[in-house]
Amino acid sequence: MNDILRIAIQKSGRLSEDSLKLIKECGIRFDNGGGKLKTAATNFPAEILFLRDDDIPGYVEDGVAHLGIVGENVSEESDRDVDTVHKLGFSKCRLSIGVLREQEYHGVKDLDGKSIATTYPRLLDKYLKEHNVTAQIHEISGSVEIAPSIGLADAVCDIVSSGSTLLSNGLKEVETIFRSEAVMIASKHLSPGQQELLDQLLFRIKSVQVAKN
Ligand code: PRP
Ligand code: MG
Ligand code: ZN
Repeated sequence: MNDILRIAIQKSGRLSEDSLKLIKECGIRFDNGGGKLKTAATNFPAEILFLRDDDIPGYVEDGVAHLGIVGENVSEESDRDVDTVHKLGFSKCRLSIGVLREQEYHGVKDLDGKSIATTYPRLLDKYLKEHNVTAQIHEISGSVEIAPSIGLADAVCDIVSSGSTLLSNGLKEVETIFRSEAVMIASKHLSPGQQELLDQLLFRIKSVQVAKN
């Protein structure tokens, strides 16, 4: 059996450290020095790819990577055709709507006719439709929380973890539209050998999780 599992994890960001830690706790050893974007495990038929988190669902859908560790927020927003095979319990966060602290806010209807800056246009659009709110969605790729204070939008929809980014940008959280944590996603086109490796890996992950509880 010459199958190998290519596992994509976030290169740098909120999930990186815990993703690496999980792989190591599963007993998989690899060298990740020198800023290499791909590394081979030494004691398990796996390769680790270090990618931007937003790109991971697409790589997994295409089968370029067989597995990926991403936030559910990123996976859901991407709408890629992948299997979510396990919840990993770390990088918990929420996707929330925030408005300027001094702004009066009574409920989601207050967003009617407003503009909202976000990196998550699909999830936001779905939420607004479910609540019969018509708002203008401004898609921007980062530093979303600055938008209201510079007059770019009336509100934001972005990831909140500790809440410190909202706070330091003069915003308050008014609606939570999605709760998220890190998940393992898998390609729908694994070979039987890769499926067997995935099962082994999931068994190890579950053992690690049980040991922690
Ligand atoms: C999110 C979000 C904020 C920050 C909020 O970014 O865009 O910048 O986290 O966290 P806090 O509530 O603890 O301050 P994320 O880590 O998802 O990175 P990315 O948007 O650059 O991918
Ligand atoms: Mg990102
Ligand atoms: Zn962000």
